[in-house]
Amino acid sequence: MIFVLSGKNVELARAEVEALGGKGRLYDNFLFLDAKFDYSRLAYTNKVLKFLFKCKKSDLKNKFESFNWKNVYKNNFCIRSNKTKYEKDFAKFVWDSVDNPKVQLVNSDTEIWIYFGKDVFVGKKVYDREEKFQKRRPDLRPGFYPVSIKPKLARALVNLSGVRKGMIWDPFCGTSGILIEAWLMGLKVIGSDLDPKMIEASKKNFKEFDMKGRLKLGDSRKLKYKCDAIVCDPPYGRRASLHKTEIEKLYKKFLENVYGFVDKVVLMAPNNVKVVSKYKKRLVAVDYVHGGLTRKIYVLTRD
Ligand SMILES: C[S@@+](CC[C@H](N)C(=O)[O-])C[C@H]1O[C@@H](n2cnc3c(N)ncnc32)[C@H](O)[C@@H]1O
Repeated sequence: MIFVLSGKNVELARAEVEALGGKGRLYDNFLFLDAKFDYSRLAYTNKVLKFLFKCKKSDLKNKFESFNWKNVYKNNFCIRSNKTKYEKDFAKFVWDSVDNPKVQLVNSDTEIWIYFGKDVFVGKKVYDREEKFQKRRPDLRPGFYPVSIKPKLARALVNLSGVRKGMIWDPFCGTSGILIEAWLMGLKVIGSDLDPKMIEASKKNFKEFDMKGRLKLGDSRKLKYKCDAIVCDPPYGRRASLHKTEIEKLYKKFLENVYGFVDKVVLMAPNNVKVVSKYKKRLVAVDYVHGGLTRKIYVLTRD
């Protein structure tokens, strides 16, 4: 398969796919990996193609001419490319090689993609991202505070846990931005937060999205819930009342608390905050936010 990754954050897009499907090989923003799972979970993958061939641009015409299109053609076809001017030229080769060819530009049964990069990749589309994250924008939800994480990023964080089925706990749940995405992916959820206002907001959002799961007022340094992974974005410490050292202490104490019973933690922390813990720490991606805030995304594991 070829996973066509969003160019906005290739690192994060790659990590998300690999957490669910295993290690792949990256060329530009194309990740080559033979993995089958529910692709609609992915936030930063735009398309998934069945790999057909790779070649130099100068060989493309010959390759197209000699390829057995009968093997991939079904009912109708269209050619798509990141360089649209070539679409028509190459459609001719498919047209000439199949019986009763039919071109269908919208909802085609055989959508062939040609990607021009350093090399040229050709594949047949098997999945297109249709998720409309904008529809779930935090400010459109009944429980809203500006701390809310955006749904696309929240979804990627959940995927980084690699949990395909099971329970996600967010001990800094805020308005439940992460848990909403986890729930929509078919996972079970638990949320907790120190601030009663956040728990109230989360309750409204749980109702809005018809979610089942526990919501608890409490301190992440003390609560203990069994889960398959923790996924969270703890406070950033941008407010004057929460200084960097206090934030680092909070992260440390929280991780000490959960180390004994949680195998995996996906955590997003501001660039300048040191994450100290007994967990094995892997920096998987960086998220650049407007206004000078850069956040690092870590996956912490016990082994
Ligand atoms: C960046 S916000 C999380 C936003 C959340 N992901 C959302 O989508 O709304 C961090 C949250 O951590 C909570 N918090 C701060 N200290 C905490 C602690 N010791 N235990 C639990 N929650 C805490 C804050 O009340 C805040 O809601």
